[in-house]
Amino acid sequence: MRRLGLTIAKLKTMRSRQRYLSSRLQGFGTTIFATMSQLAIETNSVNLGQGFPDYDGPELIAEAAIAAIRSGLNQYPPGPGIEPLRRAVALHNQEHYGVIYDPTTEVLITAGATEALASTLISLLEVGDEVVVFEPCYDSYVASIAMAGARAVPIRLNGPNWDFDFEKLRSSIGPRTRAILVNTPHNPTGKVFDFEELSEIARLAIENDLLVITDEVYEHLVFEGTHHYLASFDGMRERTISISSAAKTFSFTGWKIGWVVAQPELIAAIRTSKQFLTYVNGAPFQHAIAKGLEPELDLTREAKLALGPSRDLLIGALDQLELNPMPTAGTYFVNCDISSVTKEDALTFCMRMANEAGVVAIPSSVFYLDREGSEHYVRFAFCKRTSVIDEAVSRLESWLD
Ligand SMILES: Cc1ncc(COP(=O)(O)O)c(C=O)c1O
Repeated sequence: MRRLGLTIAKLKTMRSRQRYLSSRLQGFGTTIFATMSQLAIETNSVNLGQGFPDYDGPELIAEAAIAAIRSGLNQYPPGPGIEPLRRAVALHNQEHYGVIYDPTTEVLITAGATEALASTLISLLEVGDEVVVFEPCYDSYVASIAMAGARAVPIRLNGPNWDFDFEKLRSSIGPRTRAILVNTPHNPTGKVFDFEELSEIARLAIENDLLVITDEVYEHLVFEGTHHYLASFDGMRERTISISSAAKTFSFTGWKIGWVVAQPELIAAIRTSKQFLTYVNGAPFQHAIAKGLEPELDLTREAKLALGPSRDLLIGALDQLELNPMPTAGTYFVNCDISSVTKEDALTFCMRMANEAGVVAIPSSVFYLDREGSEHYVRFAFCKRTSVIDEAVSRLESWLD
């Protein structure tokens, strides 16, 4: 128990001052995912924390990577990414969303969506600019905005349905607002922004001459509703920077192949910082993902099909255990509102769950800039084999009994 107390204390000071760290990055500490994954190892827990599948993506894509390595495609690829992948990304967006992009000037391959986001924010923001983000939000946004010397302005998504106040969004836009960052399908809530919400965001962006950065890494993991592509809305193509990656679509999260799609001047600006961050990455994996995106293979549906049974199993079990799973339309995640089962905050609950039940989840409060009102949400990942979910559920059953 003493050890548990110490770890909670350590986690609660994650935002405290670090001696050598630049003032821009003070408070970011170690990501919760590293901390909780380490805890999962130490406590021999089933890890439903970090969002990565515990199985491989399509064999055909893995074989294409092996073939690329064996055939010597192992040196630096071109700065913007290999041409077949840029062409495949452009074709994918045309086939799925009806928007045509020039693969030479309007597509940039990056080291995952993470680098796409970082280079977009670093390239396009001035010091002191503001970016509207929907919170809770994926943790890299606020850190990358801070690296650019800018400020994140949060708009809250309210559980259990994760809707937001249009008026608050409107009034959050001021003279320093440069961009709105929209993640749909949304991590950590599982929300898929609907047509009306995206239309309002588009309207505000046009009215206020803002850029919109979309993070669509879960675009093919929608279980209820439809994924709408914001760049396809009237007047949005020229001001939208659409970011996605192969990680979730093909269940190869460790390959880190992502992309940015936008009009040529935006891509040229984004490339300027990208070339000094990684320059390039993953040559053989770029070839493999180009293969995976070939439309006739129809592989973009595979991950969703593989996830369905685990998703149903986990959500059903959390419901039976009266942990109050909230609606989740897409992604790898479901959030529970634990306020009716415990007065503890989610961090304490998650630490106790790891130590006593042997199951790791993420306290969703870490995804908020202002944590007030978020202390009772816990995020579980269902991107694991059904046998693993079964094991987690049986541990939780005994623990909560
Ligand atoms: C919303 C969101 N954006 C971006 C990423 C990172 O994507 P990548 O692995 O392609 O860098 C993740 C990964 O979990 C995510 O959940």
